[in-house]
Amino acid sequence: MVKIKVPATSANLGAGFDCMGLALDIYNELWIEPFDKIVIDTDDDLPKDGRNLVASTIKKTYEFLGKKFKGVYIKQINNIPKTSGLGSSAACIVGGVTAANSLLNYPMSTEDVINLCTSFDGHPDNVVPAILGGITVSVVNGAGKVHTFRCLPKKDLKIAVMIADFPLSTTKARAVLPEMYSRADMVYSLSRAVATFAALSQGEFDKLKYIMDDKIHTPYRRPLIKDFDKIVELFKRAGALGIFLSGAGPTIAAFVDDNFVPFDTPKNWRLEIKNIIANGVYIE
Ligand code: HSE
Repeated sequence: MVKIKVPATSANLGAGFDCMGLALDIYNELWIEPFDKIVIDTDDDLPKDGRNLVASTIKKTYEFLGKKFKGVYIKQINNIPKTSGLGSSAACIVGGVTAANSLLNYPMSTEDVINLCTSFDGHPDNVVPAILGGITVSVVNGAGKVHTFRCLPKKDLKIAVMIADFPLSTTKARAVLPEMYSRADMVYSLSRAVATFAALSQGEFDKLKYIMDDKIHTPYRRPLIKDFDKIVELFKRAGALGIFLSGAGPTIAAFVDDNFVPFDTPKNWRLEIKNIIANGVYIE
C-alpha cells in the first residue's frame, strides 16, 4: 500500500492566470493499493466508482503507460475544501499520477509527471506547485512540455486564505471570461504577472499591494462572489501585503507578514493563515 500526501495550491496569484501558483500546508491524504475492482473508502461526499477523480486518473495513467488497469483500492481523507479555489481537483490528479507511477515502479521522471498532470488538468498553475512545492510559474510549449521556474520567498511570508462555505465551480468561473482581450488589458496584466513573480522571488513584498490586480479574470469573477469587495477591504485594513482571488475562487487570499492582524470574518467565511511550503506531493 502507498500513502501519499498532496498539498493544496493557490493558482493565478493575481495576473499570472493559468501559469502561476503556490503550494500551501493543507494536505489531502491517500492510501492506495492495486485491487481487482475500484473501491473507494471515504467519509467524504465523493464518487465511489470509476468517476472518482483519483481512480480515473490512475486508470488514465496506466493506459498512458500502456499498462493494464484492473482496479484499485483508495482510502481518501480530503482536507482541501472542494470547489473552493484551493486546487482540490489538481490534488486528486497529482495524487493519482503519483500513485500510478509508484505502483508501476517509477517509469516516469518528475518532468514526465508534470507534463502528464498538466495535460490531464488542462493547465499547470495548480498541478506544478502541488508536485514541486514553492511558488511556480510554468510555460507549456506546443508539444505539451512544461518549463517551470520556481522560487521560495526570500523573507518570512505567509498566506491568509478566506474560505467560503459555498462552492464556485471552475467551469462557471471560466465561462464568464471573454475570448479576447485588448492590447491595453494584456499589457496591464502581463506587466503585473512578471512583477509579481519578481517581487516574490526577490523579497520585495512592499510592492505586492500595487501589482496584484489584473484585467484577465478577477474583474469578471468578482460579481460571482458575494462579499468580495467587503473582504478585500477587511484584508487591506488588516495590513495584507497583496490580495487576490485564489484560483477560480471563491477563496480570497492575501500575502501577509507578522504585522497582519486577523479580524472577525463575515458570515459564511472563515479565515486561516497558512504557510507556503517548499515541498510538494510526497510518499510517506
Ligand atoms: N487558472 C485556473 C482558473 C485555476 O483561474 O480558472 C482553476 O483551475
